[in-house]
Amino acid sequence: MNIARWPLTGVLLAAFLPAHAADSMVVYTKGGANPAAMACITCHGAEGEGMAAAGFPRLAGLSAGYMRKQLADFASGARANPIMQPIAAALSAEEADAVTAMLADKPGPEVERVDRTAAAEGPGETLALRGAWARNIPECVACHGPSGVGVGDAFPPLAGQSAQYLAAQLNAWRQGTRKNDPNDLMGHIARSLTDDEVKAVSAYFAGLTDQGAAR
Ligand code: HEC
Ligand code: HEC
Repeated sequence: MNIARWPLTGVLLAAFLPAHAADSMVVYTKGGANPAAMACITCHGAEGEGMAAAGFPRLAGLSAGYMRKQLADFASGARANPIMQPIAAALSAEEADAVTAMLADKPGPEVERVDRTAAAEGPGETLALRGAWARNIPECVACHGPSGVGVGDAFPPLAGQSAQYLAAQLNAWRQGTRKNDPNDLMGHIARSLTDDEVKAVSAYFAGLTDQGAAR
């Protein structure tokens, strides 16, 4: 039946379809009910691995709670991004719940384990493992976990993302287009880093996985 030819039937059907009907794979591969909620797969990759060269982040293995917060922050503009804002705003809550739960269940990348007490070599690893306390910059692994694998819903993984994406986020905080972190934790840290430090620490975490480094 072509629903479009019976507008009233379509409206009634939409009204009575259960709210939990969002199918995570349909949202991911074809998009949400609202056409502005474009298919995630186009940019975030067949398995949610992201597209490093284009700056599209990995979603596979990220916490569902973290991803739902980001979608809400894109929609509200607390994390300003011209690509994700209209997509996040067009996703229904049920669609966002379903697609983030599906992505969180996917495996994360293989991460090279670096002991927090290892001798840090170079500026990137020094920031990651020791911070720069003279400038009130805590070591990244204190919040993002050993090797930057992420901790719970609040602290996303850094390992598994590309250097390009990581640097873009740090620069977004420095420029004030991303201002969605509780208590300005990341804002303070990012604004305290030099350009060279942003590059070095981004390259360091990207280099802990094949995913981040290779492409
Ligand atoms: C046209 C490309 C494109 C499409 C389609 C797209 N995204 Fe994104 N997504 C991006 C870009 C670019 C970013 C990084 C934005 C930034 O720099 O802040 C991003 C970031 C994200 C993030 C934040 C990840 C993090 O580590 O903080 C989430 C979550 C996300 N997208 C979910 C989705 C979902 C769910 C869909 C499908 C409904 C989707 N995206 C569709 C391009 C896209
Ligand atoms: C005091 C805790 C804390 C420390 C220390 C910290 N971060 Fe964060 N970081 C956070 C929080 C919280 C978020 C998520 C903010 C949000 O809700 O979007 C975050 C997010 C990020 C993101 C965005 C990831 C994504 O998927 O979009 C990057 C990049 C980042 N941090 C890099 C760093 C680097 C590099 C360091 C060390 C120089 C560092 N962080 C140290 C708390 C911290």
